[in-house]
Amino acid sequence: MTRRDFLSALDARPPPFTMPGMNLENKNPFFRPSHLVALAILLSGLCAAGVRAQADDNLLPQLVTQDGRHALIVDGAPFLILGAQCHNSSAWPAMLPKVWSAIDYLQANTLEIPVYWEQFEPEPDRFDTSVVDTIIQQAREHHVRLVLLWFGTWKNGSSHYLPPWMKKQPDKYPRIIGKTGRRVDSPSPHAPATLAADIHAFSALMRHLKTADTQHTVIMVQVENEPGSWNTVRDFSPEAQKLINEPVPVELLKAMGTNAPAVDGNWSEVFGPNADEYFHAWSVAHYIGQVAAAGKAEYPLPMYVNASLRDPLTPGPASTYESGGATDNVLWIWKVAAPAIDVLAPDIYEGDSAKYHKVLELYARPDNALFVPETRGSGAAARMCFAALGQGTIGWSPFGLDYTKYASQPLGASRETEESLAPVALNYKILGPIMREVARLNFEGKLQAVAEEKGEAAQTLDFGNWQAVVSYGVTRNGGPKGNSEPIGRALIAKTGENEFLVTGVFCRVDFKAVSGGQQ
Ligand code: DGJ
Repeated sequence: MTRRDFLSALDARPPPFTMPGMNLENKNPFFRPSHLVALAILLSGLCAAGVRAQADDNLLPQLVTQDGRHALIVDGAPFLILGAQCHNSSAWPAMLPKVWSAIDYLQANTLEIPVYWEQFEPEPDRFDTSVVDTIIQQAREHHVRLVLLWFGTWKNGSSHYLPPWMKKQPDKYPRIIGKTGRRVDSPSPHAPATLAADIHAFSALMRHLKTADTQHTVIMVQVENEPGSWNTVRDFSPEAQKLINEPVPVELLKAMGTNAPAVDGNWSEVFGPNADEYFHAWSVAHYIGQVAAAGKAEYPLPMYVNASLRDPLTPGPASTYESGGATDNVLWIWKVAAPAIDVLAPDIYEGDSAKYHKVLELYARPDNALFVPETRGSGAAARMCFAALGQGTIGWSPFGLDYTKYASQPLGASRETEESLAPVALNYKILGPIMREVARLNFEGKLQAVAEEKGEAAQTLDFGNWQAVVSYGVTRNGGPKGNSEPIGRALIAKTGENEFLVTGVFCRVDFKAVSGGQQ
């Protein structure tokens, strides 16, 4: 069966996500393994309709952590972001129809969309909220939540979204200086005027959201976009040279615990060959932490920073990736330097699945909720949504899923069509109706989810008194042989001693009693 056939065989579209939120006291559909030993899986249409609860407009979205697991709480209950990020230039009103038609087809419950500083503050201290208001209004019409991306001081390591009145004053709002003394196309994290301007603008945005979005259409905010610097490990300006020779901040030394040196020292005394990179990470994180804290003082939505990654298995030196961003080796620095940032989130464009899995592992930490704000979504990559769920993610959101015809190759499709979006749409078709339950069960540690890997035709999941065996490429005549492409994915949650919630596609699940399980 082709993906397209499979999609059309599914039930008609369930009711769209509606506010207010849902409570979790519902009649969750579940499977009893004793009823179905061999199960060709698809639980779609597990509609949570009828489990809506009263709104409490005072309930702000928030991130909660318990026993090292995390949940994004929206309308008072765990929420799973089944997201899509539009292209960088799709947040202008004229482009929005091509965004919404893709979002509607995908049945994404959340759109990630930029707010451009240059548009938001066209003149100093004059804020234009018209575009963000249009986006919020249209999101409500489409029953979709929003994650707003603040394209502020940093956008992919550069500062191209700064308002023109700032770009015209490079001495006041400087870029960094590379080792050889040349100017690098990356904003300086040691520029008090840029920091003050960003704080001023971002605070205005959050203040506006507080009054314009009392129904919490906006559930989270990304502060900056892939901050850090390409082509230089750090800033070598006179200001930076002075700072790197000062003692390492005491908070950072404390975070090092027993690894901290007995005597205070400057960055190279404490960190040796890592000093340049760690200093830059601290500087960028400390700057962004201040922007986030000021925004939260106005309106405390959950906030995160997305990271351009280094190779998670064989990382090279900092000069080979975006230095200063929240790469896996400096997450600890970011946590200390930017406590107002709730989540450090990996943008995963890895085609190699071993590396993809490694990134998920590195960012899913007791002190960091896993959230994948950008990733490949086309083809077999769609299955990685389930790999992320298996690591407890609060959301997964491929980049560039709109119909604006902007080509995002080699990272995505050359042009999005219903066909190219179908694998992600399939995820959201089966997960959308049960996303509240999935988020809750993950938070409770009851859920396991897997994605098929080449050469691994079956995966066994341990649930204590039961084992669930997920197999791929099973035919009437035998198997499992694996699918011709690794596209299988499954999610299983234990809802009772002998009860399971199961969903997935291109796979089959068998339950085996281990001890105490009833066959
Ligand atoms: C990563 C960035 O964060 C996005 O804004 C976008 O530029 C993509 N790369 C393009 O692939």
